[in-house]
Amino acid sequence: MPFRLVTAILSYFLVHTAAGAAASDDFGFIYQGFQSSNLSLDGVAKITNNGLLQINNKTKLQTAHAFYPNPINFKTKSNSSAFSFSTQFVFAMVPDGSGFPSPGMAFVIAPTKVLARGPSTELLGLFDASTDGSPTNHVFAVELDTFREQQYADINANHVGIDINSVKSNVSRPASYQPYNKNSFENLDLGSGQQMQLWVEYDRVDRRINVTLAPTVAAKPHTPLLSLSYDLSPILQQTMYVGFSASTSPVDNVGLANFVLGWSFKINGDAQALDLSQLPKLPRFGHKKVSKIFTVGLPLLSLLFLLIVAFGAAYYLKRKWKYAEVLEEWELAYGPHRFKYKDLYIATKGFTEKELLGEGGFGRVYKGVLPTNKVEVAVKKVSHQARQGIREFIAEIVSIGRLRHRNLVPLLGYCRRKGELLLVYEFMSKGSLDRFLFNQPKRTLNWSERFRVIKGVASGLLYLHEEWEQVVIHRDIKASNVLLDGELNGRLGDFGLARLYDHGTLPQTTHVAGSLGYLAPEYSRTGRATMSTDAYAFGAFLLEVACGRRPIEHRAVPEENIILVDFVFSCWKAGNILQAVDQKLGTEYVEEEADLVLKLGLLCSHSEPEIRPRMRQVLLYLEGSVALPDLSVLAMGVSAVGLGFGHPAGFEDIKSSFATSTDKSFSYTVENSILSGGR
Ligand SMILES: *[C@@H]1O[C@H](CO)[C@@H](O)[C@H](O)[C@H]1NC(C)=O
Ligand SMILES: *[C@@H]1O[C@H](CO)[C@@H](O)[C@H](O)[C@H]1NC(C)=O
Ligand SMILES: *[C@@H]1O[C@H](CO)[C@@H](O)[C@H](O)[C@H]1NC(C)=O
Ligand SMILES: *[C@@H]1O[C@H](CO)[C@@H](O)[C@H](O)[C@H]1NC(C)=O
Ligand SMILES: *[C@@H]1O[C@H](CO)[C@@H](O)[C@H](O)[C@H]1NC(C)=O
Repeated sequence: MPFRLVTAILSYFLVHTAAGAAASDDFGFIYQGFQSSNLSLDGVAKITNNGLLQINNKTKLQTAHAFYPNPINFKTKSNSSAFSFSTQFVFAMVPDGSGFPSPGMAFVIAPTKVLARGPSTELLGLFDASTDGSPTNHVFAVELDTFREQQYADINANHVGIDINSVKSNVSRPASYQPYNKNSFENLDLGSGQQMQLWVEYDRVDRRINVTLAPTVAAKPHTPLLSLSYDLSPILQQTMYVGFSASTSPVDNVGLANFVLGWSFKINGDAQALDLSQLPKLPRFGHKKVSKIFTVGLPLLSLLFLLIVAFGAAYYLKRKWKYAEVLEEWELAYGPHRFKYKDLYIATKGFTEKELLGEGGFGRVYKGVLPTNKVEVAVKKVSHQARQGIREFIAEIVSIGRLRHRNLVPLLGYCRRKGELLLVYEFMSKGSLDRFLFNQPKRTLNWSERFRVIKGVASGLLYLHEEWEQVVIHRDIKASNVLLDGELNGRLGDFGLARLYDHGTLPQTTHVAGSLGYLAPEYSRTGRATMSTDAYAFGAFLLEVACGRRPIEHRAVPEENIILVDFVFSCWKAGNILQAVDQKLGTEYVEEEADLVLKLGLLCSHSEPEIRPRMRQVLLYLEGSVALPDLSVLAMGVSAVGLGFGHPAGFEDIKSSFATSTDKSFSYTVENSILSGGR
């Protein structure tokens, strides 16, 4: 259907008056929407794009009129009685959310299409102040009033009234309707934007005007809202115009938007019922939309905003926490040795398990590539809770960082976090020596490689003990602390860590400052780390490398534990010390060298610290420049039964000292620093 409008359903076409009035005595029309209709518009009235008749707008103090274009005969002669008529229209008064009171609208039957145009907010565009109430008006109207004007005796700001020649209604009632099967009226809010329908009926015999209101969702009620016994004959002239009238607010940009969606009219009969489904749609604006924005949209937006802020803050805090470090003022002097936690975090890909190189007594070691200069590093994470002594310890770490020797793993620097210390070493590509001796027999070192590693470690230890500006006691010499670089050079690593635990509380009571099997008997008694205690551990290391066995091989029954030094000693006593050489080597070793290493290992393991050689001597022995002293003489000299080596009693001492280590044995004081103040 090209037009929503089904115009002017005329039973007859009788054109006979000069005015061109629709002069039938049962004339009628119906508009299902007003698209392309021929209404006469006046003032601010307009037809919207989708066919709504809007009879006001938001310009203040305007009037709006919309009339059926042609006059309609309401009488056969000017002095005869008026015809019966009926009309039905659907309307909606859509609020803008301002809540500002605004005038309503009226259905009107008037002798002229040109009604009042003055600023007559409360007069609904029907009258001027001067014409209101005048009997010469000949105006019949039904007002849908949303503005209470005391002056015109309005009952409230939401009422329906029958107006004859005046906006002072002859009868009015609050907007309401009586639903089909109920006995009471239910209130309606004219200005709610809800679609409603209004019927106006006049019966020429009863001389009664009925006005019936209902929402479009309800059927036409049986009981009219207003029923006024009144003869309209003196009011209605022979030809009249029918239409709508309204005025606008006294203020700009506020007020209801008054729409008529459809309209039918009939003389001497029932107006054709509107097909509500055919009516144009109301625009999706006004009260509902605004209220949705404020009641749903705004809280949602605020919530979203809050969420974003919260997430942002959480992200920021998490990041801050993630990269948080402890940096005290005194550390500023160590600038170049101090690493940023963020860099280490990035280097190790967040300390992921994938980058884990190993896990030792003191903490986990991760591989990493520094983001700044792409240097490969090993980052050791040491947990420490100790507050006291940390300053001295860091000072030592930094000093150690200045150590340079080809048989030492360079310590590049450190970083401190709460409860955590990170030490950054140069990465040693081949990993720790013990892997090549025990854990991964994929590749064991041959004898010459082992001998070179031994000499290297000895030379590194000599540097620590005697060749640097201060004496450094390593304290934890063992195969797993010897790392191999790309050329399989042995390099001592992890120095000084044992010191950390001397300063403060031990994270676990099982941790001892040093490693079981490498601890000199007097160290476990006195807690004093010396060059001799390092030499003792070096002895254990020598035996470990030559024999390919750990210093203590644990058995199910502790009494059956194999103490390596005892074993080597017994081989030596049996006159076949080479029997102790690593079986994996077969016969592929240099007998003189192996003999030397094993005997030197025993010598260094002597329970009497004075007997153990200094590292300078050790190197001379290893290089063959000086012959090893006769062990039997030394052994006899120390102990009649030759138990000076690998003294089982000494070991018992160690074992018993472990049991109580936290209480007393390792209460080590600051004077016993690994850097014992120069030589
Ligand atoms: C109201 O209608 C008049 C006449 O059509 C127009 O000039 C005016 O701009 C309209 N006001 C608003 C607020 O739309
Ligand atoms: C519209 O109404 C005018 C008179 O008011 C008339 O001259 C004209 O022909 C009508 N047009 C249509 C399409 O009905
Ligand atoms: C109506 O007017 C006509 C003359 O125009 C007159 O003959 C007739 O009597 C009048 N009828 C009434 C009821 O006044
Ligand atoms: C009602 O209608 C008559 C017109 O016949 C008028 O004179 C009267 O003042 C009107 N108003 C009221 C409030 O009755
Ligand atoms: C007006 O309403 C009354 C009461 O419901 C009813 O008796 C009468 O027939 C109605 N008149 C018209 C014209 O509908």
